[in-house]
Amino acid sequence: MGRIYQFLDERLNLTPLLRDITDHPVPDHANVLKTRSAFIYCFGGIAFFIILLQALSGVFLMLYYSPTPEDAHASVTYIQNETAFGALLQGLHRVGASAAVIMVLLHMLRVFFTGSYKNPRELNWVVGVFLLLIVLAFGFTGYLLPWDQKAYWATTVGLNMVANVPLIGDFLASALRGGNEMGTLTLLRFFVIHVMFLPALLAIFLAAHFFMLRRQGISRPL
Ligand code: HEM
Repeated sequence: MGRIYQFLDERLNLTPLLRDITDHPVPDHANVLKTRSAFIYCFGGIAFFIILLQALSGVFLMLYYSPTPEDAHASVTYIQNETAFGALLQGLHRVGASAAVIMVLLHMLRVFFTGSYKNPRELNWVVGVFLLLIVLAFGFTGYLLPWDQKAYWATTVGLNMVANVPLIGDFLASALRGGNEMGTLTLLRFFVIHVMFLPALLAIFLAAHFFMLRRQGISRPL
């Protein structure tokens, strides 16, 4: 490992870059090894870890999932019953979706109650709000994918709510639905949004979130 790193470092001068990313001691008030109440500063990191697990389990689920009304439900049942570790992966992905929302909300509460949204971190709070919306959108689009009765009717209700958005509601709902009826296009669109659009958006907003975090450092204790 050392020799591979040396080989790459000689050619790409990686060390200053890695120092910049990793060489930041955690201050005592945010360090669980030094201050017990610092666990509240872990919520953002735990949310990030869960999101990484979601991406990993999602990629494996995609190997078998088929986004058509004819096959979707059967493919999920197949994953659960016939594939190696399929039930575990699918369960992890489903529970992970709720866990991600809960951790992001806890993280947001921590940021709020420690006043960390104030100057100079206002922009990072705004980026955070977009992150929350993206995580919720993952949940909304993912819920339809098993294409069972619960998924179908929950999405019907959800799209009716979208249609009530002032001015653009009807357009937005029919764009998401792919017409006036829920069907092949709805499932395909939700799938593509879930596995292409949202991951790309999430990556961009997370990069901005972490960039600002590195530039500004963690907020000081109250
Ligand atoms: C995908 C969701 C999110 C992830 C993975 C994430 C990750 C993180 C991480 C790892 C930190 C470092 C400190 C900590 O963990 O507490 C952080 C800080 C911060 N986050 Fe998030 N975050 C997310 C969503 C949000 C949301 C929803 C908000 C607020 C609306 C937010 C606002 C902030 C702010 C203002 C900081 C700086 C806090 C400080 O300096 O004390 N984040 N985020």
